[in-house]
Amino acid sequence: MEIRNVKGTHDIFGEETKIYDYVIDVFSRLCKRYGASHIVIPTIEHTELFQRGVGEGSDVVRKEMYTFEDKGGRLITLRPEFTAGIVRSFIQNKFYVNDLPCRLFYHGSVFRYERPQQGRYRQFNQLGVEFLGSDNFFVDVETISLAFSFLKKLGLDKNVIVKINSLGDLETRNNYRQALKDYFAQHLSNMCEDCQSRYELNPLRILDCKVDADRAYIEKAPSISTFLSPQSSKRFNDTIEALKQLEIPFEIDQTLVRGLDYYSEVVYEIHIKNANEGAIGAGGHYSTLIEELGGPKMSGVGFSFGLERLVSLFAAKSNLSQQAVKDEIDVYIMPIGDGVHSHALKIAQYLRDNNISSEICLEKTKLGNMFKKAQKRNAKFALIVGEDEIKNQTVQLKNLSTTEQIEVKIADILNKIKE
Ligand code: HAM
Repeated sequence: MEIRNVKGTHDIFGEETKIYDYVIDVFSRLCKRYGASHIVIPTIEHTELFQRGVGEGSDVVRKEMYTFEDKGGRLITLRPEFTAGIVRSFIQNKFYVNDLPCRLFYHGSVFRYERPQQGRYRQFNQLGVEFLGSDNFFVDVETISLAFSFLKKLGLDKNVIVKINSLGDLETRNNYRQALKDYFAQHLSNMCEDCQSRYELNPLRILDCKVDADRAYIEKAPSISTFLSPQSSKRFNDTIEALKQLEIPFEIDQTLVRGLDYYSEVVYEIHIKNANEGAIGAGGHYSTLIEELGGPKMSGVGFSFGLERLVSLFAAKSNLSQQAVKDEIDVYIMPIGDGVHSHALKIAQYLRDNNISSEICLEKTKLGNMFKKAQKRNAKFALIVGEDEIKNQTVQLKNLSTTEQIEVKIADILNKIKE
């Protein structure tokens, strides 16, 4: 019987891969311009990292982790997100002794046992940043500005909206949590099972419930803005002012609480405008995660985009996506006659060694067909080589956009192409 891929996973190939590569390339180059360096962390971590880092109260830890015991009896988890692993690496490798903030960017696959549907997978890819070791709100703003510039570079800035909220400091959240408990206590028996367990574990998460019948209660729940401590309130106002100065469009959404437990102060999500789908990216500030995982008392902030969701939006909406999939080669080599192929191979190698992409027509076919193939590959030049050319150490070089054809000595091919 044929073996199929595991439910919730998908192959990425053909034109789609080109878009993935393009998007990752744009992101990597932009991150470097923000002074961030690339970090690659393991796909597997000790389960405890996510239990302590992401939080026992989060859906990710409660229901979605791929966890197994390895042959040495260790409890191991396939990373369900990057932030906890990056923070672990920051602490373990003592990045904090260097200049701070330490700016890192990453991309790779993550795993969550969720119900697969459009745009939701069990293995998917994220790309993101974590800026670690500074509590300055400007660093929070810098990450939002990076995320927005990235979308601009992809030609998607008009298609998205940045939703932002503040979860305040510890004092804010303690007071707010109590207020939510008092409020939801009266309605809890009519609400879904998930909300009932969230009530015990983390009542803020009730605000994130998508069950229609519960929304009526949630809409009337107290809003966090009235609970923000004076410091958190100032911090949030300063953040908003800075975003306005940078002309980053945003919308304050007081029901935005995020599904992972480590956030405090500013949180944000990036959504497709006028669409009811999940976020394409999300992030926020965390002030206790580094310390909770055994590091110094320092804050961090970061975001991750879901690459699948981003790529599908880019392919559907951005006029730059054609450029991303455009496949071009410099030279299409056409060997004519018997015993010419090995000579053609040598020419191809010579061109490739000199950074000129080339492909040889391996099929024995008419010259007309070879030109059709060259056109399909979007080749800039056709290079024709037959027995006479081998004798004379020349080739016929045809510029496929001007149709000009000239005979060139092999030693002159590079100059002619560069001309
Ligand atoms: P998250 O909201 O859990 O945040 O995930 C970030 C993004 O990953 C989402 O906005 C979504 O685009 C994508 N995503 C999540 N689940 C799936 C899925 N099952 N299939 C496809 N895409 C999905 C985090 O992971 C945090 N670590 C973000 C962060 C970084 N906060 C601070 N630093």
